[in-house]
Order: sequence, then structure tokens, then C-alpha cells
Amino acid sequence: MYKNGEPISMMTAQDYPSGLMVDRAGIDMCLVGDSLAMVALGYDSTNPLTMDEMIHHCRAVARGNKTAFLVVDLPYGSYEASPEDAVRVSLRCLKEANAEAVKLEGGKEMAETIRRITRVGVPVLAHIGLTPQRQSALGGFRVQGKTAKQAQELLDDALAVQEAGAFGMVLEAIPSEIAGYITQRLKIPTIGIGAGVDCSGQVLVMNDALGLFDRFVPKFTKQYANLNQIMTNALSQYHAEVKTRAFPAPANTYPIDPVQLEKFWK
Ligand code: KIV
Ligand code: NA
Repeated sequence: MYKNGEPISMMTAQDYPSGLMVDRAGIDMCLVGDSLAMVALGYDSTNPLTMDEMIHHCRAVARGNKTAFLVVDLPYGSYEASPEDAVRVSLRCLKEANAEAVKLEGGKEMAETIRRITRVGVPVLAHIGLTPQRQSALGGFRVQGKTAKQAQELLDDALAVQEAGAFGMVLEAIPSEIAGYITQRLKIPTIGIGAGVDCSGQVLVMNDALGLFDRFVPKFTKQYANLNQIMTNALSQYHAEVKTRAFPAPANTYPIDPVQLEKFWK
């Protein structure tokens, strides 16, 4: 798709039903992103998520998704201390979680780690720009590459992770001109989120795109549905029907053979 100039679609999933939906929608790539820490598990950031939690979710997604290329995020703290740690957890993702590739956050400083992971046959998707795992150091979730100096650093990071062997990279929260220029300069695809239309592909967090998570909505999100409202309304209606005995109706109830019933009463 990249070679043909066809934009690549990527969407996150976190469990069996969402993996199945990504597959059925024909989406090209499926990301078990560590954003699931916030949108599915209720943590305040992605930082507390463990490798075991991630594997649990990725296995469920893999049972639903059969066709989209499956990428899993390496959780914060599982891969930074040494390339050996990174290789070990990356292999776990393929062996235990049925992932086909891993994603990790960082630029130049992660180049050696990316080189080591790819050398053992695990494809790596890099992630630069806004790196949510480092939100404490970045001072929150905010746009990156807004000064000429920062933009140059982003380009240097992009070239470094490409050189290290990444098969592509996520560009998050970067002005579109900068993301477009970085994309032009590379020989591998960029997957944008809040990075404009000139990236090689796009990714969104499913719970944001479907309007399931509304604690906060990033500027770059587009809500394609408002499922939170639809689902909450459905649950309220159920609650009301239980209270009025409108549910269950005869259609939701099992019959019994009248002869058997007569015997029972006797
Ligand atoms: O965790 C995630 O969902 C991500 C995407 C936003 C790229 O990393
Ligand atoms: Na992530």
C-alpha cells in the first residue's frame, strides 16, 4: 500500500469483540495500544499498564482479528532499561500474544533497541512526536514539533529509527506540514494521529472514534459515532423495563408443555 501511495488504515482494539470489528471493517492494521490502560481499564495514564495485562488483551484481540496486521504496544517500563529486556518482551508478544509486530515509543535514544529487536525477527513500529508514556516529562499530552528546533529533532528521530530497522512509525500530535515533510523524507510509512493528511496512513483509538470514551476527547479525534450515549440509553431502558415488568416479555420466556405443567401442579 505504501509503495502504491494508498493510505493505510489502522485502528486500536482491546478485546475479542473490538478485534472482530476491526477485522470485519476491513481495516489494514490493528493496534493493541497501551491507550487501553486509560480507555478500557480506567487508569489515569498509560504508565501503570503491565506486560501481563497487555498480553491478556492482545490474546483476546487476536482471537477476533484474523486479517489486519496485528501490532502490540510494549508497555512503559518493560523495554527501556536495556535492549535485552526489550528483546525478551518483544519475543513474548509474538510467542504468547499472537502479535505480528511490536510498537515502542522513542527516537534516537531507542535506535539500538530497535536494531536489536528487529535482528531477532520481530518487526518494530516506532512512535515519535507526542509519546504518551513520557507525559510526565513532556508536561502532559501536548503537540510536539512546534518550533523549528523541535521539528529538526523529530526529523532526526525519524531518520534514526528508520536507519535502525523500524518498518514504519507512528507520528503523534505534530503540525501537518512537519509530518508531511518527514513522510516525504522517509523510505518507510508514517502512520499519523493528529499529524495531518500527508502521512502514509492514519490511526485512531477505537474508544475515541466510536465515542465510547468521553472523559476527554483529544483535538485530533473524530467521533464517527456516539456509542456511549446509545449504550447508556439502552441500559436505562432495560433498567426501566425491569422495574415495570415490561421485560421479560413472553418472547423472551421459555414455554413448557401444558401436559407436563398439569402433572407438575398435581
Ligand atoms: O496506545 C495507542 O492507542 C497508540 C496510538 C494512539 C498510536 O499508541
Ligand atoms: Na500507545
